Amino acid sequence: MAAIGHAESAPMSAAQALAVAHQSAPAMLPGRSYWLKLATQQASVQIQAPKYQINVNTLEHLAAKRLELNAIGVATLSTDKPIVFEPYSANRDLGGFILIDKLTCATVGAGMVEFALRRASNVHWQAVDITREAHAAQKQQQPRVLWFTGLSGAGKSTIANLVEKKLHALGKHTFLLDGDNVRHGLNKDLGFTEADRIENIRRVGEVAKLMTDAGLIVLTAFISPFRAERDMVRAMLPAREFVEIFIDTALAEAERRDVKGLYKKARAGQLKNFTGIDSPYEPPPSPEIRIDTASTTPEDAAEAIVATLLAS
Ligand code: ADX
Repeated sequence: MAAIGHAESAPMSAAQALAVAHQSAPAMLPGRSYWLKLATQQASVQIQAPKYQINVNTLEHLAAKRLELNAIGVATLSTDKPIVFEPYSANRDLGGFILIDKLTCATVGAGMVEFALRRASNVHWQAVDITREAHAAQKQQQPRVLWFTGLSGAGKSTIANLVEKKLHALGKHTFLLDGDNVRHGLNKDLGFTEADRIENIRRVGEVAKLMTDAGLIVLTAFISPFRAERDMVRAMLPAREFVEIFIDTALAEAERRDVKGLYKKARAGQLKNFTGIDSPYEPPPSPEIRIDTASTTPEDAAEAIVATLLAS
């Protein structure tokens, strides 16, 4: 995919850009972070949902949730650090960029900056006196995010709940964010398309980070099927604070249990985009903890997780 956008020559971190999907590359998805290369600079960048897509024949503006292969559209980009750029119309070298998938290193898009957005220079970081270290010290614990990932029905919520009970009994300050619950409130506007799942995990990552800033040990139980978003949350946190826990249950076993009857519905074609059936799950290649639920009971799994945590 390729992109075009809006910019200025002062260092900026948000801009509007025009984007074009690349043939033979993975799709460029709103909310996912990519590497942006602009002249000699590289930054991590997020592309928001396209404002519109352009019909290349009629130049008509079309509504679009994401840009499919070879599509051209206009979107807002935000980088994780200021970069210097200019509108492409003023300076091709400082206005043109490419977008690279962080996992495959494939170029997924290219674009042109149109202009910088004022929010990049008008929204500042407010310093506070009670720091995350002060919050953690008061609670006498090391904040963590225990990130449970796995198929629907793998046992994430059950095990996370047991782990929280054990930590609570040890006097730890914890909070469990559970997929089904968060989708009733903060994320009730999201469904199960790739883009919505990415946004689901992005928001949960931000909330989990805020909770660690408050000194808590946060447990999250979400399918979180994509490696890129789990890695994104890991990158948001200080080293060693993110503990990825893969609840490894074979699809056949999760489907056999089918606690919520959702696999049955998915097989009958009544539920689209179901993880493991017609929506992918990317297992973590090197999680901090892997639980094989075929050979471990939930109680033993929780015990092992707490022991690992206390030892690290
Ligand atoms: S995630 O993929 O975005 O991380 P999340 O963990 O929040 O998913 O929600 C998964 C839960 O939503 C499942 O446990 C299941 O109860 C329910 N659900 C409903 N529709 C789907 C679907 N299409 N795919 C997966 N889970 C679904």
